[in-house]
Amino acid sequence: MAQVKAHPEATLIACEVFENGICSLLSALVEEGAEATGPLPPNLRLWPDDARVLLRQLPDASIDRLFLMFPDPWPKTRHAKRRFVHPAMLELVARVLKPGAEWRAASDDPTYQDWVEDVMGAQTLFTVLPAAFERPDGWPPTRYEAKALRAGRTPRYWTFARAG
Ligand SMILES: C[S@@+](CC[C@H](N)C(=O)[O-])C[C@H]1O[C@@H](n2cnc3c(N)ncnc32)[C@H](O)[C@@H]1O
Repeated sequence: MAQVKAHPEATLIACEVFENGICSLLSALVEEGAEATGPLPPNLRLWPDDARVLLRQLPDASIDRLFLMFPDPWPKTRHAKRRFVHPAMLELVARVLKPGAEWRAASDDPTYQDWVEDVMGAQTLFTVLPAAFERPDGWPPTRYEAKALRAGRTPRYWTFARAG
C-alpha cells in the first residue's frame, strides 16, 4: 500500500496466491463490506494467483521493478524447488525485466539467506549488489518484516540488477 501511494505514476501488480492474503490486502484498501465492489487505487492491479503464472504470461522486458519481500522460505531441502529464488526461475524473471531493472528481495530466514547468496552468486543474468542488513530507503516495510524484527531475526535485503 505504501508503494501504491508513493508511486502514483507507476502501475503496481500485487500477487498473492492465497485467498486469506488477498482478503487482508483488500481490507487495507477498501471499506469493510465493500471488498467485492469497492474501487481499488487506479494504479493497482491484483493477481490473485501464483506469481509465476503471471510472469510466464508477461511480455519480454515489460517490468521496471520486481519486489520479492519475505517469500516463503521452504527451509526443508526436499522443498527447495518451491523457493522463488531458484536456478529454474532466473531466466523467467530476467526475461520480463527491462535491461537494468531491479529485482529487490528480502528474507529473514538463515537457510533462505544462504540459498539466495549461493543461487545468485552462480548466475550471470543479474548483477548482485552486496546484501544490506537494514531496509534501504524507498523499500516498503512489510508485516512479515515487522514480525521478524520483533522476533530478533536480522533480515537481508538484496538488489539484483538485470544485466544487459
Ligand atoms: C511469508 S509471507 C510474506 C508476505 C509479505 N510479502 C510480507 O512481507 O509481509 C509470503 C506470502 O507469499 C505468498 N506466496 C507464496 N508463494 C506465492 C506465489 N507463488 N505467488 C503469489 N504469492 C505467493 C504467500 O501466500 C504469503 O502470503
